[in-house]
Amino acid sequence: MAEIHHKAPSGVGIMGIGSYVPEGTLTNRDLEKIVDTTDTWIKERTGISKRHMADAKTATSDLARQAAMRALGDAGLGPLDIDAIIVATATPDMFFPSTGCIVQMQIGASRAFAFDVSAACSGFLYGLSIAEHFVKTGSYRHVLVIGAETLTKIVDWTDRGTCVLFGDGAGAAVVGRVGEGRGIISACMASDGSLGDLLELPAGGSRMPASEETVRKKLHCVKMEGNKLFKAAVKAMSSAATSTLAEAGYSGEDLDLLVPHQANLRIIDATAERVKVARDKVYVNIDEYGNTSAASIPIALDEAKRRGILKQGMLIEMVSFGGGLTWACVLMRW
Ligand code: ACO
Repeated sequence: MAEIHHKAPSGVGIMGIGSYVPEGTLTNRDLEKIVDTTDTWIKERTGISKRHMADAKTATSDLARQAAMRALGDAGLGPLDIDAIIVATATPDMFFPSTGCIVQMQIGASRAFAFDVSAACSGFLYGLSIAEHFVKTGSYRHVLVIGAETLTKIVDWTDRGTCVLFGDGAGAAVVGRVGEGRGIISACMASDGSLGDLLELPAGGSRMPASEETVRKKLHCVKMEGNKLFKAAVKAMSSAATSTLAEAGYSGEDLDLLVPHQANLRIIDATAERVKVARDKVYVNIDEYGNTSAASIPIALDEAKRRGILKQGMLIEMVSFGGGLTWACVLMRW
């Protein structure tokens, strides 16, 4: 039999991880009182039981800051050790300054430059890939990548097709040198702008500036074609996960842990089946958080690590899909 050569890890990976979710929660039972839905429908069609919800005075940067400080603590670093901050979010505090700059100020990372990445649910993995390249070239040593969202602030609470899905939270990772034999092995990022209208927030930008009419028509809220997105998500996530593994000489059976974006339990199950990963090696926490978009993968990673499921030396793959359309995958030796 021919000898298989696996692509070696880059030596650049995640030095520390942290997450933060607001205390307040909204259960399916709570939603039954707001829209025409049931706990049973939501659980069966999505896998979600509850989601965390920021209060009126809490913005995305407030969640991001807490997750960032936890990730720094986990890495044993301080804010002044950070060279760059990348915040992935679809719910920034405002158009500008960027949420990255707001977090930079809040945590006192005065040496770092900061910016936001707009790639919806794929934003954290886009940020992770960008950070890996920054560190690999030797330009920067420590990059803080944060996925943070307050999606409950942009949903239409009269649209049962979307308001039951989303939740708030943040996760952060410090990217730097982790030593030989560890770190990112292969990655992919992809987009298909031709299907962008399947998931959009139409108003408030330069195409449709805010007006009384846009507010009245709820055009500042998420509009989604769930069914078409569902199919596109399974196709994109399974092919990205499979090709990223193959590029490194691996298959789904080699994985110790698959950490998929938590959008819908049925999307996760269908993806895992196509990638041929055993179901007990797939990390799922959608029941507790709902879809937290860019925050979902770092929240899951942090939780898996704290629960002792994610251990050093494991071969793990993260895969995401979201508005844009965008999708991404990162394979790494933890
Ligand atoms: N409660 C009860 N019934 C509902 C609800 C609800 N909350 N929502 C929809 N329904 C009804 C519909 O009205 C429809 O009724 P009808 O047959 O009488 O017309 C029926 O349920 C089936 O609707 P579908 O939309 O076909 O339901 P589906 O099984 O596709 O589930 C869902 C909908 C959960 C939205 C699913 O399509 C999905 O998860 N899509 C993908 C979402 C996603 O991945 N988004 C991208 C990532 S998010 C990001 O980037 C921010």
